[in-house]
Amino acid sequence: MSARPKIATAPPAKGKPVTLSSLGEKKALGEPIAMVTAYDYPSAGVAEAAGVDVVLVGDSAAMTVLGYPSTVPVSVEEMLMLCAAVRRGLQTPLLVGDLPFGSYEVSDEQAVTTAQRFVKEAGCDAVKLERGGSSVDRARAIVAAGIPVMGHVGLTPQTATALGGYRSQGRTADRALEVAQDAIGLQQAGCFAIVFEAIPADLTDLLMPQLQVPVIGIGAGPATDGQVLVFHDLLGIYDGHAARFVKRYADVREQMIAGVRAFAEDVRARRYPEPEHGYTMAPDERERLRGLLEEAATSGSG
Ligand code: KIV
Repeated sequence: MSARPKIATAPPAKGKPVTLSSLGEKKALGEPIAMVTAYDYPSAGVAEAAGVDVVLVGDSAAMTVLGYPSTVPVSVEEMLMLCAAVRRGLQTPLLVGDLPFGSYEVSDEQAVTTAQRFVKEAGCDAVKLERGGSSVDRARAIVAAGIPVMGHVGLTPQTATALGGYRSQGRTADRALEVAQDAIGLQQAGCFAIVFEAIPADLTDLLMPQLQVPVIGIGAGPATDGQVLVFHDLLGIYDGHAARFVKRYADVREQMIAGVRAFAEDVRARRYPEPEHGYTMAPDERERLRGLLEEAATSGSG
């Protein structure tokens, strides 16, 4: 019997799918929640195999995989394509899609319409949006439409210019109070979880007792219910500036460069391909082909 060809399909389910209630249970039990970003089928497979709880298709994709200078330019269509690819590689973690800048702020109707596309077209379990203020109303509207929403406060990259750049937030009592109000507002609007980005650990400590929903931190200290890092940052794939809160767990970019360089050197030195990388013809077929080619050449020239 011939060996079955390897077909790239989604990996088998690794466990019971993570749900909003299982995340709530983790918070209640004090079990930390692990969340990473992913942007395509292979990174989703890695997140699945590594056993994380939540996968976010972050609009950080704008920079990490699409090469934009910030998260602002990425479009809904680009995000949907990435979310759909991640969906195909994911069974167990909860899949959250980031609503990009300009796709939800205008009205509740715009927010609900965009969120529905992330669920219907890309298979997301939930969506994420940034900031308090009018985003609280948008979150409430999306939740009322039956779509789970994750909030995001502190450093909100979509509006980094208005915040004075990519810098930590809430270091004065006045600004910290605004961050606190944003978080409480999003919780009251029905968000199932909230991301705290780049805020002092003291602020997180003071805020945590007021939050009944899971809080996932990124540069917000150790007191949150979970932590998130950007896939390319934690694996060392992305070559840009890394924020203070990034911890590198691997240097995959160096390994990728070394691999591609070795391939290019082998090609130039004619060391690749070797016989085992090619296909052969039975000698009699080869001879028959030689004859056929000669015949075709003779008839063509006559
Ligand atoms: O876009 C993103 O990757 C994010 C995480 C940093 C939380 O919003």
